[in-house]
Amino acid sequence: MRSQLRPLTRSLRDRLVSHDLSQLSRSVRKEGLTYLSPAKLLRIEKALQSVSDVDGDFAEFGVALGGSAIIIASQREARSFHGLDVFGMIPEPASDKDDAKSKSRYEAIKSGASCGIDGQQYYGYREDLLADVKHNFSRHGLTVGEDGIFLYKGLFEHSWPAVKVDKLAFAHVDCDWYEPVAYCLQVIAAKLSPGGVIVIDDFHDYGGCRIAVEEFLAQNPVYMFEDGANPVLRLKV
Ligand SMILES: C[S@@+](CC[C@H](N)C(=O)[O-])C[C@H]1O[C@@H](n2cnc3c(N)ncnc32)[C@H](O)[C@@H]1O
Repeated sequence: MRSQLRPLTRSLRDRLVSHDLSQLSRSVRKEGLTYLSPAKLLRIEKALQSVSDVDGDFAEFGVALGGSAIIIASQREARSFHGLDVFGMIPEPASDKDDAKSKSRYEAIKSGASCGIDGQQYYGYREDLLADVKHNFSRHGLTVGEDGIFLYKGLFEHSWPAVKVDKLAFAHVDCDWYEPVAYCLQVIAAKLSPGGVIVIDDFHDYGGCRIAVEEFLAQNPVYMFEDGANPVLRLKV
């Protein structure tokens, strides 16, 4: 009888990919500071390496507990890192372009029924999430407000216009729904250097995110689309 190759289970795949991750990414996952899988973190690490010669700061839209932000900020060297979030309850998926999965996820969060990573309290229910995130950064040797590391509390459309940034080399868009993803892509594109990259977290998870990215790509053919767990949009040189 022919042997059948069974697809790898998620936990086995995660363990295999974890071997290729940096020690910092492994720690961040172990501490329950990120929702990102090892495969997604590895793609972020590689995307960051690929922009080492590209001019501009790093940014993340959607910080939550700070996991991916800590990884990105730790690679900034002489650049600045800008992390933006409401640091509270996630805003509603308000567009008709958001799918039923997004809306039911939001309803579960709003009802108070959402569980956090590894049985922790869901981050959006915390009393002072921003203070917790600053503490998470400092445990990894990063001081928010110093050495070019900045966090901004509020809706993206309120906080981004006041962020002092000339150029971006890298941006991580991890904000789930159609409207924030569409907004972030527009403002990032206005600052991204040639060769710069945008990593999109939720393209394969939430329909509104996918539509926002597809609309953006249709209007901006100067971007290459590199598919994967979290697709990369790379601005052609
Ligand atoms: C999935 S979480 C980010 C996960 C994080 N990057 C990690 O490593 O686990 C998405 C975050 O985006 C934030 N967010 C979504 N829409 C937003 C908006 N319009 N303005 C500010 N923050 C927003 C939410 O509050 C939430 O903290």
